[in-house]
Amino acid sequence: MSHATPPPTPSRTVGVVGAGTMGVGVAHCLAAAGHEVIVVDPVPEALDSAPARLNAGLRMAALLRRGPADGAERTVARVRFGSDLTELRTASFVIECARESIPVKQEVFRSLNAVLPPATVIATCTSAIPVGLLAEHVDEPGRVLGMHFMNPAYAKDSVEMIRGEQTDEQTLADAHDLLGSMGKQGIVVGDAPGFVSNRLSHGTYNDAAGVVQAGTADAATVDRLFQECFGHAMGPLRTADLIGLDTVVDTLHVLHDLTGEARFAPCALLTDLVAAGRLGRKSGQGFHAYASARR
Ligand SMILES: NC(=O)c1ccc[n+]([C@@H]2O[C@H](COP(=O)([O-])OP(=O)(O)OC[C@H]3O[C@@H](n4cnc5c(N)ncnc54)[C@H](O)[C@@H]3O)[C@@H](O)[C@H]2O)c1
Repeated sequence: MSHATPPPTPSRTVGVVGAGTMGVGVAHCLAAAGHEVIVVDPVPEALDSAPARLNAGLRMAALLRRGPADGAERTVARVRFGSDLTELRTASFVIECARESIPVKQEVFRSLNAVLPPATVIATCTSAIPVGLLAEHVDEPGRVLGMHFMNPAYAKDSVEMIRGEQTDEQTLADAHDLLGSMGKQGIVVGDAPGFVSNRLSHGTYNDAAGVVQAGTADAATVDRLFQECFGHAMGPLRTADLIGLDTVVDTLHVLHDLTGEARFAPCALLTDLVAAGRLGRKSGQGFHAYASARR
């Protein structure tokens, strides 16, 4: 069965905030579905490397037979990049994929509130921040929800969708429609730190790093056990490398701060790797070594 993105249906203009791993990944899926996409990031280095990362993602998608129906070139032509949130004024839907930090995202939400028409839906791709903590920074909290795409976004059939206490039905319906246009389904859960997926997964990444730190096994062995004995497609440390160890640590901090649970305090090995610039796949080295760095 082919998993190619369905042919473009009537398109809309969708804004993406953040040109990192997820911003580019989500833009790829939107543009492949025929939507016009505007990606905004204030960091020049992120914008400089984004087109190459978009193209690399499209090449991988094609290899996995998940390429866009009307080709990579047309898909790329539908994505433009900018540095100012005011460029999102014409978007009818915005997906926020900025760095995992409560103050950074709250500031982005305040800016989006000032820039966007009141009917524009604002989705956050946060890993762990409750949607309600962001929705309280806009005048119409009903238009805010969580759309937790996972990485690589083009390879995933479903998205964890977070319904905030104030998220309204129209917002959920609009998000389901947008996902449907990308050939994806939304799995709706309630609002809580880490929702369902990351409350469960990030404690495991942290524990797995702790096992390596204690010297019980090296990273390759931990991952092998998950793959060969549990039957997982990927072990927890290779998964953490894929996410980005900086993002994993940021997410653990959010979970720790909001739940107070000690198991979410990032272990020293994780914070040491991040301090050493070993961020995982995107830097070429994390728990494992990779052939090429993202930037
Ligand atoms: N990497 C993953 O596997 C993954 C999966 C699901 C969700 N997420 C979440 O997606 C979000 C983005 O993660 P990522 O992995 O792409 O991180 P990343 O570090 O690759 O990218 C983050 C981007 O945010 C930008 N940024 C920083 N401040 C900003 C601002 N004020 N406005 C706009 N952009 C800003 C940075 O320049 C950077 O390009 C985070 O909330 C993360 O938790 C990540």
